[in-house]
Amino acid sequence: MPELNFKPPVKRRGKPFFMLLATLMALLITSSPVTVSAFSRWRHNRMINSYEYKSQYGYWETLTLPEEFKLNSIHAAVLPTGKILLIAGSGNNQQNFNTWHNEGLISVLKTVVFDPSTNHIKLVDTPSDLFCAGHTLMQSGNLLIAGGTSGYELLPDKIVKPAGPMVIHNENPDDQVRTFKKGTIFTRPDGKQYQSVQEVVLEPAHKEDRGRGDVTIHASSTKVFVEALGEDDSFLSSTNEQYAVSGLTGIDTQNIYGQGGPMSRNKQDFRGDNKAYEFDPITETYVKVGDMKESRWYASLPVLTNGEILAVSGLDNTGIITETTEWYDTTAKTWSWGPNMALPTYPALFRTQNPDVLFYSGSSAGYGPADKGRLPGFWNVRTNEFTGVGGLRDLDILETSASVVLPPPKGSNNGTQSNKVMVAGGGGIGESELVTNRVDIIDLLASNPQFTPAADLPEALRYVNLTVTPWDEVFGTGGTADYRSKGNSYSYSSFSYNPTSNTYTQMADAEVGRGYHSGSLLLRDGRILVFGNDPLYSDKDNTTPGIFEQRLEIYTPPQFFRGQRPELAGPQSMEAARGASLNFTSPQNSTIKSARLIPPSSSTHVTNLEQRSVAAVVSHINHEVKIDLPADVNVLPNGWYMLFVVDADGRSSYAKMIHIVR
Ligand code: CU
Repeated sequence: MPELNFKPPVKRRGKPFFMLLATLMALLITSSPVTVSAFSRWRHNRMINSYEYKSQYGYWETLTLPEEFKLNSIHAAVLPTGKILLIAGSGNNQQNFNTWHNEGLISVLKTVVFDPSTNHIKLVDTPSDLFCAGHTLMQSGNLLIAGGTSGYELLPDKIVKPAGPMVIHNENPDDQVRTFKKGTIFTRPDGKQYQSVQEVVLEPAHKEDRGRGDVTIHASSTKVFVEALGEDDSFLSSTNEQYAVSGLTGIDTQNIYGQGGPMSRNKQDFRGDNKAYEFDPITETYVKVGDMKESRWYASLPVLTNGEILAVSGLDNTGIITETTEWYDTTAKTWSWGPNMALPTYPALFRTQNPDVLFYSGSSAGYGPADKGRLPGFWNVRTNEFTGVGGLRDLDILETSASVVLPPPKGSNNGTQSNKVMVAGGGGIGESELVTNRVDIIDLLASNPQFTPAADLPEALRYVNLTVTPWDEVFGTGGTADYRSKGNSYSYSSFSYNPTSNTYTQMADAEVGRGYHSGSLLLRDGRILVFGNDPLYSDKDNTTPGIFEQRLEIYTPPQFFRGQRPELAGPQSMEAARGASLNFTSPQNSTIKSARLIPPSSSTHVTNLEQRSVAAVVSHINHEVKIDLPADVNVLPNGWYMLFVVDADGRSSYAKMIHIVR
C-alpha cells in the first residue's frame, strides 16, 4: 500500500512592505468591490497569521491530503501510537458502493493512517464497507469497528423492482448452520420470484428439553432483503406471505421457509452490515473477528468499566431500526445477545460510576421513531431497567446534538473528578428546520440527577463538534443552522467553554464549514483535528448537489503561542497501574499545576463518546514532578490514556501514552 510524507501547504504570510504599498496605491486609484474584497482578504490573512491574533484566538491550519490519499473522512480515531485512523469506506458515494458490491473491488473503500506529527500518510486495505460503522477503542488498544453498509438508500423515483424484507425460518433442531448466498431465490405461492441482495447465515432451530419428554422446538430465524425478479405490479404485495426457498430438497422444504412482505416500491433505507474488525495500531491492519448477530448501520459501542463492549441500535440488513443489542467478547472475539432497548441510531451512551449502568443523554445522530427512546436516563444493562431523568429542555430538538462528559474543575489539582454530562444544540428529527442553542448539564452523582440550564451556545446549531481539552475547557467548532447545511447555513466560529465559570470565549474562525458527517478529535500534541462534512447542497439556493469536504483542519489553541509548553522527559509510552505514582523530570517542573488523563478517542457523526478527562494529582519532589493516578476502577478503568501535564496558563504538554493494565 502506498505511503508518503507530504508537506502541508505553505502558510499564508504577509506580503513584503513594497507590495503592501503597491496594494494601497492600487486601492487609492481604483476602489472596485473586487479590489476591496481582495484587500480585505489579504488583511484578514495578515491578521490571523499575526502573533497578536494567534496568541489570543488560536490558529487553524488546513490540510489537503495528496490526491491518492484523499478520502471522505467519516470516521476518525486517535490510536495509542498517536497516529490518526481515517475511514471513509464507500464514503456516502453510491458509485463506490456499487463498484465494491458488484465487482468486489476494495480499493474504492478507503482507509488511511495519518501521523499528524510528521505528516506521514499511508493507505490501508479496507476489507468491507465500513461507512457508518460503530467504533471504539478497546482496553487492549485495538480499535473495534462493527457494522457498516450493505445497501444504499433508494428513493421511490429510483426504484423499479418491488422489494422488501424476508425472514427465513428453520424448524429443524438437528440441522447444520446454513449459508444462503446473495441471489438465493424465494418463490411466493403464486409463483412470483424474488432474490436476496445479501449473504446470510441461519442457525438450526433450538430444542428446549424440560425433562420427562417435555420438549419444545423454537424455530431459528434470520433476516434478509429481497428484490423481485420482475418489474411489473404483479410483484407488489401488501401482506405477509410464506415463500419457498430455492435449493432445498426433501424434508428441508418443510422445515425451512421464508416469511416475506410487504413487497413495495417504497423508499429503501440504508441497510446495515454485520461484519466486525479489530484495527491493530501496531501492524496498522484490520483483523477480522466474529460477525455480529445483527447487522448494524449507525451503532454505538459503549465500553463498560470491565472492558465489555455493547453494540447498541442501528439499522439492520433490511433497513429497519433494531431494538436488539449484543455483547462483544474481547477474548473469544464473538458476539452474544444483550438486553433489548429501543434507542435511536448512534445513541450517546456514557459509562457511569456504577459499572452496570450506562447514562443515555438523549443525543443521537439520525434515525429512529420520534416516540421511542428519546428520553434521557440511566440504563442498567444487567437488569435492563431504564430510569428516566428530567430537566432536559427541547426534547424534540435533540437529533445531531452534542453530548460530552465535562472536564474536572478548571486547573484543579485535588483529584476532584467531574461526572457532569453536557448536552448542546441539536435539530428536530429528520429533515426538520427546528434547531436550538440549548445547553443543559446534569450531575450524574447528584442525589436526584436532573438536567439544569447552562449558558446557551453562542448560536443555535446542529452538528456542533465538542472536544474535551486537557486545560479543562470544551472546545466547540463547526455546526450548521439547518439540516445538512441547507442554505449554506454553516457557522465558522469557534469557542472555548469553561464549565467552571459557565462562560464562552470566542476563538479563531475555522476556514472550512463542518456539518453532517463531520467530527473532531483531541490530538496527542494537544491540538484539535476536525474532519468531514457532507452537505446536501453546495449553494445557498439548494439547487446544486453538495460535495464531500475532504480537507482536514487542525486547531492550535492560543496559549500554545504564549511561551514555553511544559515537557516531560522519559519514555513516550508506558504501562502503569491504578493508584500508582509516576515520576518525571521536567525542565518546567515548577510550572506544572495539573495533570489529566484523556483516552485517545474516536469520533463519527459528531459523536465522540469515550472522550473524558480524568484528574490525576501533581506534586513536586526535589527536581521531579510526581503524578498520582486515581485508584478507583470506576474513575480510571483499564485502557489507554493520553497523560497531559498543564501549567497555570493552560499550556499542556505533548502527551505520554499510558496503558492502565490493572
Ligand atoms: Cu451517516
